[in-house]
Amino acid sequence: MPELGEIQETLLIPLYGRAVQTRKRNGLIHDPKAVEMVDSLDYDFSRFDGAKSLIGATLRTLQFDAWVADFLRRHPAGTVVEIGTGLNTRFERLDNGTVHWFDLDLPDVITLRRTFFQDTDRRRTLAASVTDPAWAEAVRASPGPYFLAAEAVLIYLDEDRVRSVFDLVADRLPGAELALETASGHMVDRQDSHDVLAKMAARMRWSCDDPGEVESWRPDVQLAESRTFADFAGPVRSAVPLSVRLLLRAMAVIRRREIESYRLNRYRVGDPAPTATS
Ligand SMILES: C[S@@+](CC[C@H](N)C(=O)[O-])C[C@H]1O[C@@H](n2cnc3c(N)ncnc32)[C@H](O)[C@@H]1O
Repeated sequence: MPELGEIQETLLIPLYGRAVQTRKRNGLIHDPKAVEMVDSLDYDFSRFDGAKSLIGATLRTLQFDAWVADFLRRHPAGTVVEIGTGLNTRFERLDNGTVHWFDLDLPDVITLRRTFFQDTDRRRTLAASVTDPAWAEAVRASPGPYFLAAEAVLIYLDEDRVRSVFDLVADRLPGAELALETASGHMVDRQDSHDVLAKMAARMRWSCDDPGEVESWRPDVQLAESRTFADFAGPVRSAVPLSVRLLLRAMAVIRRREIESYRLNRYRVGDPAPTATS
C-alpha cells in the first residue's frame, strides 16, 4: 500500500467498518467493493477488530447516504461532492444515472483511490485540499444545486480552516447543502482513549459543543438538521436492527454526554444565486 499521511490513514477506519458489516449476515450495509479493497490492501486491519467505533462509522455513513439520497430525489441531476472521500463507495450505492459526482481528497489518497475507481463523464476525482479554492471552481462548472458530504473530515482541521471552508462554499457554491459531523470538547479531550483513534497518529482538532454555534460564523449559514446516533431519521432507522437501536437509546439515557458529544449535521450555506424569475 502506498505511504499515506497521518490524517489520510484514517480513511481505513470507515472502509474496514463497511467491510466488516458486509461480511456479516444481516450487516448494516452491503459494500462488496469495501471487502475487495480491504482484501487487497497490505495493512493489518485486525488491529481494529472489536472496536465499537467501527459500527459507529457505518451508522454515520448510513445517515450521510440518507441525506444524499434525499438530495438526489429532489435534484436528480444535481452535483454531489464527496469531500475527503477516502475509499468511500457512496456513488456505488446511490448513483441514479444522472447525478454529477466529484470525489475530492489529498493527492496521496487520490493516487490510491485511482487504483480502485475510474473516472467517467459524471464521476470525477479531484486531488486537492478542501481548503484550496480550486476545487470549488471545478465544481461550479457542474450543474447545481450542490450537496457536499464531508464525512469524518473537518474534525481533523483547526477551527479557522473549518471556517475557511464555510467561507469558500458560501462564496463559490451559494445555496449548497453541507453535511459534516461535530465532536464536542469532551470527546476531543478524551480522544487518546478512543478505541480506534488511539491506535492512529491523527488527532481531532476542531471541537464544537453546539453545531448551532456555526450559524454565528456567517449570517448565511443555517443548520437544517442535527442528529445523534440515538435519533436517526426514518430511512436510517429502518436499516438499523432493533437490537442496535435499543442499545443506542439506552446509551442516550445512561451515557447522555457521550451520545450528545458527536452530532451529524446538515447545513445550508450561502444565499442561493438568484434565478431568472426571482
Ligand atoms: C476518516 S477519513 C473519511 C473518509 C471518507 N469520508 C469515508 O467516510 O469513508 C478522513 C478523510 O479526510 C481526508 N482529508 C483530511 N484532510 C483533508 C483536506 N485538508 N482536504 C481534503 N481531504 C482531507 C483524508 O485524506 C481522509 O481520506
